[in-house]
Amino acid sequence: MAGLESHYSARDIEARILAALRAVGLNPEQRLLPEALAALDHFHTGGLRASRELIKLAKIQAEDRVLDIGAGLAGPARFLASTIGCRVDCLEMSPDFCAGAALLNRLTGLDDKIQMHRGSALNLPFPDDSFDVVWMQNVGMNIADKRKLYAEIYRVLKPGGRYAFQEMAAGKMATSYFPLPWATDPADSCLVSAEGMRALLDESGFMLEIFDDTSDVQVTAAAVSSPPPAAAKAQLSLGVYVDNLAQKAGNAKRSLEEGQIRLVRGVFLAK
Ligand SMILES: C[S@@+](CC[C@H](N)C(=O)[O-])C[C@H]1O[C@@H](n2cnc3c(N)ncnc32)[C@H](O)[C@@H]1O
Repeated sequence: MAGLESHYSARDIEARILAALRAVGLNPEQRLLPEALAALDHFHTGGLRASRELIKLAKIQAEDRVLDIGAGLAGPARFLASTIGCRVDCLEMSPDFCAGAALLNRLTGLDDKIQMHRGSALNLPFPDDSFDVVWMQNVGMNIADKRKLYAEIYRVLKPGGRYAFQEMAAGKMATSYFPLPWATDPADSCLVSAEGMRALLDESGFMLEIFDDTSDVQVTAAAVSSPPPAAAKAQLSLGVYVDNLAQKAGNAKRSLEEGQIRLVRGVFLAK
């Protein structure tokens, strides 16, 4: 987990978020639009674009009850709630991220649609058959016990429910550039190959609907996307709570380009 820890207390992270919002001219006294926060609160490869694509692939509807595991600051959950209209439960192990997420839920007026829960993906605090969709972006890389993780996801999904995810998978060579955004050193990084992930999901009872390797799309998108204006980039970004962001992001990009890691996404059905 070392790569993900924000090193800030709940109060510090709230203060840092408020300062970053004001620095780019967003007024926390007025209701904020979720999309205006995307550079800060979509803490995964591909940002808002990747979330938008995953919503379409998983065919999420207003009446779906969604669980976002490892929700971070809950940017994807707010995007789901505001664009689709569904209710989202967020499960997050870090108390500072939970505090930051609750603040942003309030500032966007979405706290009636999103509920934060502090806890572990390996022991989900929900009854069986609770959700239509379990959503997870860039979280599995920190979870070694994938059998237990998939068993928990399967347990809380209703029959026919969808597990929609994206995460990094192991490539053909060992990861050699550290720190990465999810891992300070190799001991923190729990990657399996795409084939291994698919086999584990199959053994856990899931049925494949979609399973894509989007590494090339991501490498191309990173190469062609124009960066936001320098001031906004520096002040409203993951750097508000991730140390050494440029170095970690650079290492992830290089690892993807060289095939040490792969970016996969999928939608699997619970039977
Ligand atoms: C890279 S961030 C992704 C946040 C969010 N999914 C997003 O895309 O914006 C990974 C998050 O997963 C959380 N996390 C990692 N392992 C977890 C676990 N076992 N249980 C619950 N949350 C976990 C971390 O605290 C962190 O907030």
